[in-house]
Amino acid sequence: MEGEDAMRFFIENPAPSTLVDVENKVNKFIDLQPKDRNIVLVTSGGTLVPLEKNMVRYIDNFSAGNRGAASAEYFCKSGYAVIFLYRNYGMKPFVRHFEGPWTGIFTKKSVGSSSSWEIKDSLRNVLNNSLENLELMNERNQLLCLPYTTLTEYVWYLRTVAECLKCIRSRALFYLAAAVSDFHIPSQDMSEHKIQSGAGKDKLELTMRPVPKFLRYLVDSWAPEALIISFKLETDENILIDKARTALHRYNHQLVIANLLSTRRRSVAFVTLDSVAWLHLSDEDLRNGVEIEDYIVSRCVQLHKAA
Ligand code: PMT
Repeated sequence: MEGEDAMRFFIENPAPSTLVDVENKVNKFIDLQPKDRNIVLVTSGGTLVPLEKNMVRYIDNFSAGNRGAASAEYFCKSGYAVIFLYRNYGMKPFVRHFEGPWTGIFTKKSVGSSSSWEIKDSLRNVLNNSLENLELMNERNQLLCLPYTTLTEYVWYLRTVAECLKCIRSRALFYLAAAVSDFHIPSQDMSEHKIQSGAGKDKLELTMRPVPKFLRYLVDSWAPEALIISFKLETDENILIDKARTALHRYNHQLVIANLLSTRRRSVAFVTLDSVAWLHLSDEDLRNGVEIEDYIVSRCVQLHKAA
C-alpha cells in the first residue's frame, strides 16, 4: 500500500498526458521479450523541479547521465532487455559516445586544392560499433528509451513501469541511478506565471515540500518481487557508507551502490546490511578506457542470478 504522502503527491501532481503512451510502449516491449530474458529498468539523470507552471525557472539535481547510459549499454550486452528511463536530452546508450559537441567529431581533409569535412579516423570505428550495436539491440527488441524531464514525470513513469513489470516478477531488476529531487513545489502552491522581480523585492522566498521517498513504495508494493538496487551520492566521504546503510534499513531493499561526486567515475562501494565492498579503477584502467559501469553491471547481474 502507498502511504498518505505518496497518495497526496499523485493527487497534487496529476499524471502527465504522455503517461498512457508510456504505459502502452512498456507493455508492448514486455510482450516482445522471450520468456527467459530478464528485464532491467535503468533510471538516469537528474529530475527537474519547476518553480512556475509556465516554467521559466527551475531547480535541478546534478547528474550528467553517464552512469545510467553506460550501465544500460552493459546490461544490453549481458543479454538483458533494458527500459531506459532517462532525462530528456541526456546521454543515451550507444549514442553516448557522440554526445559531446558534434563539431568535435569531424576533421577537415584537403586533397589538392579541394577540401571536405570527414569523421575523424580515431572515431570511425567507435561510430561503426556504436551504430551496429544500436541496430542489433533494436532488432532484438532489447532497448526501450523513455525520456522524462520533471520530477512529476519521473515519479509517474517509475510507478507505471514498475506496475507493468510486476508480471515478470523476479525477472525484473531495478537499477536506480537517477538523481531524484528531495524537495519540490506542489502544483497548487506554484506561481502560474513567471515569478516577478522588481521594485521593493529584495529577496525571493520559496517554500518547498519534501518529496515522498518513493523507494519505499517501490520495494513494498510496486515491485515486491524484483531485485532493487539504488545508488547513493554524497560529497562527504565520512557519511557515505552510513547513509547507504540507513537507506537499506529504511527501505529494506537488496543493495545500495554508494559513490562520491568527485570520484564517481573510478570508485564505488557495494553496500549491503552486513558488508561493504569497494571497487576502484586504477589510473591505468582509466587511461585504457575501462569503464567502472562494466564491473558494476556484471556484479549486479551476478546478484540477480543468485537471487
Ligand atoms: O550521471 P552521472 O554524472 O554519471 O552520475 C551518476 C550519479 C552520481 C548521479 C549516480 O551514480 C548516483 O549516485 N545516483 C543517485 C543519486 C542520489 O543519491 O540520489 P538521491 O539521494 O536523490 O536518491 C537516492 C535513492 O533514493 C535513489 O535510488 C532514488 O531513486 C531514491 N529516491 C530519492 C528521492 C525520493 N524522493 N525518492 C526516492 O525513492
